[in-house]
Amino acid sequence: MKTVRDVISLIRVMGLKKFLNLIRSLKQNTVFFRGFFVSSCIGTLLKTPFFEELSTNGKIDLEKFCKENNYDIYFLRGICNYLVSLDLLDLAGDMYKMRKSFRLNYSKGGYHFISAYYSVFENLENLLSKRKQYGVEVSRDIKYVTAGSAETEKIIPYPYVKRLIKKYEFKSVFDLGCGNAEFLIYLSDALSEKSYGVDISATAVQEAINNITKHNLSEKIYVFQSDIMNLDDKINLKADVLTILYILHELVESENSVGKAIKLLKNLRTLFPSSKLLVLEACKQDTFALRKTKSFLAEHHLFHLASKQTLLPFGDWKNIFLQSGYKILDAMELRIVGQGFFVLE
Ligand SMILES: C[S@@+](CC[C@H](N)C(=O)[O-])C[C@H]1O[C@@H](n2cnc3c(N)ncnc32)[C@H](O)[C@@H]1O
Repeated sequence: MKTVRDVISLIRVMGLKKFLNLIRSLKQNTVFFRGFFVSSCIGTLLKTPFFEELSTNGKIDLEKFCKENNYDIYFLRGICNYLVSLDLLDLAGDMYKMRKSFRLNYSKGGYHFISAYYSVFENLENLLSKRKQYGVEVSRDIKYVTAGSAETEKIIPYPYVKRLIKKYEFKSVFDLGCGNAEFLIYLSDALSEKSYGVDISATAVQEAINNITKHNLSEKIYVFQSDIMNLDDKINLKADVLTILYILHELVESENSVGKAIKLLKNLRTLFPSSKLLVLEACKQDTFALRKTKSFLAEHHLFHLASKQTLLPFGDWKNIFLQSGYKILDAMELRIVGQGFFVLE
């Protein structure tokens, strides 16, 4: 009754036309405003043990959790109450619980990507007005780039790769741009020999070592820091297959400037003549295809563009492999998730 009374009052003051326009505008835009606030709150909680504690105990006692982790309960309660108001958490007495309808599991990677590219978007105006440049004053947070990649890739790409590893009976892997080594850890039960990983980032390599140690896999996986562009014949390791997951687009400066990627691919052929190459890449889709899909692929394209990484269409990737002297043994595009899978020799 009260709501009807309020609506009538608003229409009297604003006029019907303005009132209806206000409702339509808010209906369309609240979902966008809300995206920012929700992703800030969930992204922050994902940087704490909050959701692990919730999934272990089914509920969380904020006072105890804040004491144990030295968090400010004022902010945590505010965040939790906001998530209760959006029907994502429940509150019973002093205990917070996750709503059954809140399906966070397959989407954690998306929140990590927001953390990874947060400073890029915070600086969008500076980039637009040329006051700052990406790669000079603005950069992404590599810790969350690797966390986001691993978290999203374990859902679809990793199982596809495992099938390919089994199909070709590969026993060992050398993963180029290994990030936090989640991929090598995931594969470890399918590989009988020692595997290797390399990454240019000290942060990523440290995350990888911590992860490998946590999983007791130090005997089976060895990671080291190096620029894959500078690998030379001093490298003393053997692997049935070299894997390159979502790295090549970082080496492509523009659609017409693919020389660096080709140089790397040719060098790998020279250094590892008997190893196969397994490449996973994000494949560019045109703007109208993205409009149809209505998925996170649109944001995936946007944050790559904003951080000067160039996605290429599936066919262009194939051409690059052929130009680099490889034979394509397997090539598959999963358009629904914007991914390309290639096995080369
Ligand atoms: C998008 S992440 C992908 C990580 C991992 N391959 C995965 O799929 O989860 C890109 C990774 O490539 C690494 N990288 C970029 N350029 C590199 C280079 N020239 N040499 C070695 N690693 C590089 C980055 O440090 C980062 O960890």
